[in-house]
Amino acid sequence: MGLGFGIDFGTTNSTVCIYDGQEFLTVYLENEQITMPSLLYVDREFRPFFGEAARTRFLADNEGRRIQLEKYEVGTIEIVLGDNAFESMDHTGFDPAPTSYDASVTGVTDLNLPGFLFAGSKRLLGQTVFESVQLFGRRFRLVAVVSSLLKHLLSRTTGQVPQVENASIRVGRPVNYECPGTDGQEGCNDRAIDRMREALSYAGLKSAEFFLEPIAPVLAWMAGGSVGDRVSPVADPQPRAGRGENVLVLDFGGGTLDFSLVRIAANRIEVRDNDGYALGGDIITEMLIRDHVFPLIGFDEETLAEVRPHNLEVDELVPLILNWRTTYMLNQPEYLNRLREAMRVLPSAAHRFNRARLLIVRNYSYHLFHAVDLAKQRLTTEAVAEVRLPAVDIELSLMREEMESSLATYLSSVTTKISAFCRSDGAGPDQVDSVILTGGTSLIPAIQESIQELFPRRVVPIDPFQSIVKGFAIAARLGADGRLSQDGDRLIIDLE
Ligand SMILES: Nc1ncnc2c1ncn2[C@@H]1O[C@H](COP(=O)(O)OP(=O)(O)OP(=O)(O)O)[C@@H](O)[C@H]1O
Ligand SMILES: [Mg+2]
Repeated sequence: MGLGFGIDFGTTNSTVCIYDGQEFLTVYLENEQITMPSLLYVDREFRPFFGEAARTRFLADNEGRRIQLEKYEVGTIEIVLGDNAFESMDHTGFDPAPTSYDASVTGVTDLNLPGFLFAGSKRLLGQTVFESVQLFGRRFRLVAVVSSLLKHLLSRTTGQVPQVENASIRVGRPVNYECPGTDGQEGCNDRAIDRMREALSYAGLKSAEFFLEPIAPVLAWMAGGSVGDRVSPVADPQPRAGRGENVLVLDFGGGTLDFSLVRIAANRIEVRDNDGYALGGDIITEMLIRDHVFPLIGFDEETLAEVRPHNLEVDELVPLILNWRTTYMLNQPEYLNRLREAMRVLPSAAHRFNRARLLIVRNYSYHLFHAVDLAKQRLTTEAVAEVRLPAVDIELSLMREEMESSLATYLSSVTTKISAFCRSDGAGPDQVDSVILTGGTSLIPAIQESIQELFPRRVVPIDPFQSIVKGFAIAARLGADGRLSQDGDRLIIDLE
C-alpha cells in the first residue's frame, strides 16, 4: 500500500495529513501550524493571501477606513408574468394585466474597498445565492476561491513530505452541507459536491474521492498515534476480538454538527447511519453577539421594542449586522438615517445606537465576530474573557456562566437530536459503547458536560482538530487497497 493523503477543507480551519502505514506525516501549513484558517484575501492588485495572513491583511486594510457606498444602475430587467397569473386575473373580471413590464435594478459599490475576504466558503457551497462575486472588475467564482485554497494546501506539502502525486486521496464532506432557503437537502448536497469536485480538479486533485467527515475519527481512534510521532504506535486499524462495539461520533465543527453511528465488528466497520445540522461554532458566536453585544448597540429586544412605535424599521438592520458579510450594505443614507432618527427619538439609547453606526461606517463587523469568537475560545479555559474594540467603543467582559446560559437552548436542541439519532437506529443511547467527541467546538466545557451526562464514562479522548484529517489519510490507504465498499447506503470498511 502507498501513501494516503487526507484533506480536511473545513468551514473555519483546513488541514492535510499524510499517512504511510507507520506514521502520520506533519505538514506545516503556516508558521509551524498544522491547521490553517480557511481564509482567502484578495487585494486590489489581485494578490492572494491565505490563512492567518489573509485575516491579518483584511483587518489591517480596514483599520480606520470609512466605507463609501455608491449606488449604480445595474440595468433594466423585463419581468414577465406567468400565463397562470394572466388567466386568473382574466377570470375574475379584471382587465387583462400587461404580460410584462420593465423594472430598473440598482446595485451598490464599495468605492474604497481595499480587498475582499473570502471566509467560510464551505458554508456557501450548497447554496444557490452565491455563485460568483464581482471584484475590482473581475468575476470570482466560488469554485475558484475553493480551488485556490486547496491548491495552496497542496503547495505546502512540497518539500516537506514525499510527493503526493501518486498518493490515494480522500477529501472530507459533511453529512449535510448548509442550505438555508434552497431546494431541499439532497439538491444542496449534490450542488456542493459538484462544486467541490470542480474545485478539486482545478487544483490538480482530480483523483480525490469523498469521505464522510464524522466516520474518519473512528479510523484515527483505532489507528492510535499522533501527528509526526513515531513513539506512540500507529498502524492500520486491525480486526477486534469480542462481541463488537457501537461507536457514536459527534463532530462539532465551525459550520456543522455531524453525527455518525458506526458498528465495529470482528473484521469490519459498518457505518449504520449519519446525520448533520448547521449547528457549528459560528452559530454559537452569533448567539453570543446577539445576547451580549446587541444590548451595547441598542439592538436588544427591549430597546428595539421602544423604537418600534416610531416606524423607523430598525429591526431590518439586525440580521445585516449579525452577518458580518452583509453589514457593509448598511452604509447607505436610508439605513444610517434610521439610526440617526432612533438616536433622536430615544435619547437614552443614543450612545448605544452610535456604536451600531460606528460598526457600520468603520466596517468593524468582522472584527467583532472574530473578537467574540476568540473570547468564546478563551472561555474554554478561563472564567472571564474580554472583548475590546475601542474603534467602535465596545468593551465587554464575557463570563463563562453567561456563555453557558446563552448555550442552554442550543444544548437542549443538540442533546434531543443526538438521542433521537441513536433511537432511529433501533438502539437508544444506552446501546452506545463509545463516544468520539471531536471538532473545535467540542472543547466548550458545557458541551463536554452535556455529552458526558448523556453517555457517562463512554467518551473517549481524541484530538479535536486532527482526528478527522488523520482518518481521511487512513481511509485513502484502505481505499487504494480495495478495503472500502458500499452495501446499499452503508459504507463497509474491511479490517483484514
Ligand atoms: N478552545 C476552543 N473552545 C471553544 N471553541 C473552539 C475552541 N477552539 C476552536 N473553537 C471553535 O471551533 C470551531 C472550529 O472547529 P473546527 O476546526 O473543528 O471546524 P471546521 O472543521 O473548520 O468546520 P466544519 O467541520 O463545520 O467544516 C470554531 O467555531 C471555533 O471558534
Ligand atoms: Mg471539520
